[in-house]
Amino acid sequence: MKISNIQKVKRNILGLTAVFTILVFLLFPTSLWADGGGDFKAKCSSCHQPHKNSTGPKLFQARQKWSTGGAKEGSIYQWVNNWQTAVANDPYAANVSKWSATAMTAFPELSKEQINGILDWVDAQPDPALAAGGGSGNVVNDPAMEATEEEGGGFWFWVILSIIFFTIILSVGGVRRQLKISVGEGGSDDEQTYLSELKTWAWKYRLPVGLGVLVIVISVIVTIFQGLYRINVVENYQPSQPIAFPHDRHAGVNGIDCKYCHNSVTKSKSAGIPSVNVCMNCHKQINGEGKPFAGEIKKIYTAAGWNPAGAGKYTGNTKPIVWNKVHVLPDHVYFNHSQHVVVGGIDCKQCHGDMTKMNETVKVQPVSELNKIEGNVKLTKPTLTMGWCIECHGAKDVPLGDGKNGYYDEIHRRLRDNDKSLYKKYLKDGKVSVSELGGWECAKCHY
Ligand code: HEC
Ligand code: HEC
Ligand code: HEC
Ligand code: HEC
Ligand code: HEC
Ligand code: HEC
Repeated sequence: MKISNIQKVKRNILGLTAVFTILVFLLFPTSLWADGGGDFKAKCSSCHQPHKNSTGPKLFQARQKWSTGGAKEGSIYQWVNNWQTAVANDPYAANVSKWSATAMTAFPELSKEQINGILDWVDAQPDPALAAGGGSGNVVNDPAMEATEEEGGGFWFWVILSIIFFTIILSVGGVRRQLKISVGEGGSDDEQTYLSELKTWAWKYRLPVGLGVLVIVISVIVTIFQGLYRINVVENYQPSQPIAFPHDRHAGVNGIDCKYCHNSVTKSKSAGIPSVNVCMNCHKQINGEGKPFAGEIKKIYTAAGWNPAGAGKYTGNTKPIVWNKVHVLPDHVYFNHSQHVVVGGIDCKQCHGDMTKMNETVKVQPVSELNKIEGNVKLTKPTLTMGWCIECHGAKDVPLGDGKNGYYDEIHRRLRDNDKSLYKKYLKDGKVSVSELGGWECAKCHY
C-alpha cells in the first residue's frame, strides 16, 4: 500500500514538472525579457547617449534633472510620449524643447513603466569617460557590441531555463531512487541507470510524454522560423538626416505637391530626392531668420554655396547634401513607382503613411500604422518585406476594363478575346487581382 502511495506522489511531481515546463516554454515570449536597454537601443539611441550630448541631450539622470529643475510631476513621461503635449502643459518642457532645432520623435506607445525601464537602464550605465580612465570610448553606439548583447539575452534565457529543467528532473529522479532504496524495492534494479529509468518512465507514460515532446518540438520549429523571417527586418527604420526636413511643414501646411520634389515618381522606377536647387527656389527668401530652425536653413545655404548677405549671391562653393536613404530594397528586387502610382493608382499613403502630417524626418512606417490609414489595403506582413508585396498583390484588384484606363482596357480585351475560360475564372469573385495578372511571378520582382 505504502509503495503505491509513494509512487503516486512521485508520478504527480514528475507530471507537474513536465506540465509546468511546457507552460513556461509556451507562455513566456522572449519579448517579456526585453529590457530598458533594448528599448533604448531600438528607439532612443539614434539621438541620445547616456553620457554624451549628440542629436539630443545626454539622458543620464534626466528624471532628477527635471524634478530639481522644477518640472511638473510626470511631465517627463508626457515629453517622451509626445513632446508637444508636454510643451503645452509645462514651461519646463517648453524650455527643454529649445535645446536644439531638431524635434524629438513622439513615442505614444511607451507606457510609464517602459519609460522608467529605459531611464533606469540609462542611469545604470557607467560613464565611459570615467571607466576607461578618461578615454572617450563610445560604448552604446558600437553596433557589434549591441548585436552580441541582444543575441546574448535570448541565448542565456534558454540556457538558464534548460538548467532549471534538468535540475528538477535530476532531483526528482534522485528522490525517486532514494525512496526506492529506502522501501527496499531497489534490490534487483540497483544498477538501473538514470537513462534506462527515464526510458521506462517515458514508455509507461508514452501518451502525455509524446504529446509534450510534440508540443515542444513544434513550438521550437515555429519560433525558429518566425525568427528567420524577421532577420534583418527593421520596422520603424529612421536614419538620421543631415537636415531636419519636416514633411508636414512643406507637403502639409504649405500644400506643396509630392511631385514638386519627388518629380520622377510618376514617370520612372524611382521617386527621386530633390536637389538643393529645388530647396533654393523657396529658401532664398525663406531664411528662417529669428526662427528656431534658422540653423537648418543655413545648412541649405552651405550646400548650395549661397551667401545670404546683402542681396545674396552664389559663391560657387557647393557641398552636396547627403540624405540617408530610408526605404531600401535589396539589389535583387525590382520595384517601380510609376507602375504602382500611375498604373495601379495607389496613393503614396498606402506605402509611406501620411507624409503631410509627418513632423520628423522620414521613417519606414510599420504595417500596423499603415493599416490605420483610411482607404489603405490592410496588410499583415512587415513593410518592405517580400510577404508585404505578395500579400498586397493577392488582395488588391485592378480596374475592370471600363474605358477609363487604357492600360487595363487592353488587358481585359486580350483576356476576353484570347482566353475566355481563364478570364471567367478570374472574374468569379467579380474582380481581377494583381496576382492573377502575374503579380506573383518571381521574375516580375526579381532580376
Ligand atoms: C529624433 C531624435 C530623438 C529621438 C529618437 C529621441 N529623442 Fe529625446 N530628445 C531629442 C532632442 C533633440 C531633445 C532636446 C529637446 C529639443 O531640442 O527639442 C530630446 C530631449 C529628451 C529628454 C529631455 C532631456 C533633458 O536633458 O531635459 C528626454 C528625457 C528624452 N529626450 C528622452 C527620450 C527617450 C526616452 C527616447 C527614446 C524612447 C528619446 N528621447 C528619443 C531627440 C530625440
Ligand atoms: C519640399 C520638398 C518635398 C516635398 C513637397 C515632399 N518631399 Fe518627400 N522628401 C523630401 C526630402 C528632402 C527627402 C529626404 C529627407 C528625408 O528622408 O527625411 C524626402 C524623403 C521622402 C521619403 C523617404 C525617401 C527615402 O529615402 O526612402 C518619402 C517616402 C517621401 N519623401 C514621400 C513624400 C510624399 C508622399 C510627399 C507628398 C505628400 C512628399 N514626400 C513631399 C522633400 C520633399
Ligand atoms: C506600392 C508601394 C509604394 C507606393 C504606392 C509609393 N511608394 Fe515610394 N517607395 C516604395 C518602395 C518599396 C521604395 C523603396 C524603393 C527601392 O529601394 O528601390 C520607395 C521609395 C521611395 C522614395 C525614395 C527614393 C526612391 O525612389 O527610392 C521616395 C522619395 C518615395 N518612395 C516617394 C513616394 C511618393 C511621393 C509616392 C506617391 C506619389 C510613393 N513613393 C508611392 C513603395 C511605394
Ligand atoms: C515651395 C517652397 C519650398 C521648398 C521648395 C522648400 N521649402 Fe522648406 N520651407 C518652406 C516654408 C514655407 C517653410 C516654413 C517657414 C516658416 O514656417 O516660417 C519651410 C521650412 C523649412 C524648414 C524649417 C522647418 C521647421 O519647422 O523646422 C526646413 C529645415 C526646410 N524648410 C528645409 C527645406 C529643404 C531641405 C528643402 C529642399 C529639399 C526645402 N525646404 C524646400 C518652403 C519650401
Ligand atoms: C498596396 C499594394 C501593393 C504593394 C504593397 C506592392 N504592390 Fe506591386 N502592384 C500593385 C498593383 C495594384 C499593381 C498593378 C499594376 C499593374 O497592373 O501592373 C502592382 C504591380 C506590380 C508589378 C508589375 C506586375 C506586372 O504584372 O507587370 C511589379 C513588378 C510589382 N508590383 C512589384 C512590387 C514589389 C517588389 C513590391 C514590394 C516592395 C510591391 N510591388 C508592393 C500593388 C502593390
Ligand atoms: C511582388 C514582388 C515579389 C515577387 C512576386 C517575388 N518576390 Fe522574392 N522578394 C521580394 C522582395 C521585396 C524581397 C526582399 C525582401 C527583404 O528585403 O526583406 C524578396 C526577397 C527574396 C529572396 C531573398 C530572401 C529574403 O527574404 O530576403 C528570395 C530567395 C526570393 N525573394 C525568392 C522569390 C521566389 C522564388 C519568388 C517566386 C515564387 C519570389 N521571390 C517572388 C519581392 C518579390
